[in-house]
Amino acid sequence: MDLYEYQARDLFEKHGVPVLGGAVATTAAEARAAAETIGAQSGGVTVVKAQVKTGGRGKAGGVKVAKNADEAQTYAEHILGMDIKGHTVKRVMIAQGAQIAEEYYFSILLDRANRTYLAMCSVEGGMDIETLAVERPEALAKVAVDPNIGIDAAKAAEIVEAAGFDAETGAKVAPVLERLWEVYRDEDATLVEVNPLVKTAAGDIIALDGKVSIDENSDFRHPDHQAFVDHSKTDPLEVLAIERGLNYVKLDGDVGIIGNGAGLVMSTLDVVAYAGEEFTLPDGGHPAPANFLDIGGGANADVMANGLDVIFEDAQVKAVFVNVFGGITACDAVADGIVQAYGILAGHGKEPKPLVVRLDGNNAELGRQILDDAALPKLERVDTMDGAARRVAELAATAH
Ligand SMILES: Nc1ncnc2c1ncn2[C@@H]1O[C@H](COP(=O)(O)OP(=O)(O)OP(=O)(O)O)[C@@H](O)[C@H]1O
Ligand SMILES: [Mg+2]
Repeated sequence: MDLYEYQARDLFEKHGVPVLGGAVATTAAEARAAAETIGAQSGGVTVVKAQVKTGGRGKAGGVKVAKNADEAQTYAEHILGMDIKGHTVKRVMIAQGAQIAEEYYFSILLDRANRTYLAMCSVEGGMDIETLAVERPEALAKVAVDPNIGIDAAKAAEIVEAAGFDAETGAKVAPVLERLWEVYRDEDATLVEVNPLVKTAAGDIIALDGKVSIDENSDFRHPDHQAFVDHSKTDPLEVLAIERGLNYVKLDGDVGIIGNGAGLVMSTLDVVAYAGEEFTLPDGGHPAPANFLDIGGGANADVMANGLDVIFEDAQVKAVFVNVFGGITACDAVADGIVQAYGILAGHGKEPKPLVVRLDGNNAELGRQILDDAALPKLERVDTMDGAARRVAELAATAH
């Protein structure tokens, strides 16, 4: 999960990385009010910065220095709503203006190829680090960071030396790198990038821009990261699925998919897309998967009901394929789950959509019997994966 700059700034502050005052605003009036408070510490000068999760904001006109609150308001009016590489600006950050003497670059990232962390640092930071990396790679120091040790005082000294800082500046930069490592480690980040890290006219080292990516697999130990989740950018069905604790991804087609196990669901998507080629929709397209949904190993009735509920909510879905290979959770338990799920949904006044169920594996016969006995409306049983995929594609095509 990528964070906005203002969120990165707050994390930096929490870990003692020197940053300037900043506040986020969603309207020009808010921006003006923020500029009045924030600018009070910097002679009225603030910087209005577009908050979008993409690079090159400065070059796109999304970073403007304002001499007073009036100017900040005007710039905010202009920047809010701007499109930067397909991202609409919904917020701006009003940052205290800095008197920049020099701009540097620093980042820590996960170096998968070498199975370690990598710190990159340059005395030539600013807006064109990508060009620098390509044209003069020797100006960008790359130093491996042992995950068990991290960036301690010795490693920080090694990095600033490799980057070519003079001794005096290097001694000021090094402790900031140690703090940035703390952000990386303690927040379970996969990227911490500061461009530019600046030296001010007064000689202070400050992180002026921040990019942080958080490893979502660590969410369970960071309840506070929940605040970073950007619901406005997520599909409403995905939001509903997250609330229900489901592993769901919205796709573009019209065949709802439920399976147990990520691998089985992935191959179900392929098989349905393949089977769909045989049928043509009124618009000339073909039936295709509408979503990825893995209900996992212990698929009980509630999980099944939640899964079916989210998929039935998808107006695009014309037919649903439940593809289950019984393992530790046997097919009879899954079949019971489907029957109960229908009960739960009927209780909520929800109409079922055409459903094709394929049960195989542990206790398949028993599971199939349970479904046959229940004779649920619009539910069909097909016992092979290919056959079921073909049938559900056909149902989706004819439902149009
Ligand atoms: N608070 C500030 N005070 C003075 N100048 C600033 C401030 N923030 C940014 N700048 C100037 O604006 C330039 C661009 O800012 P910033 O790095 O935040 O955006 P960017 O690099 O264009 O965006 P991105 O990081 O998305 O590529 C900086 O290199 C710096 O010169
Ligand atoms: Mg930048």
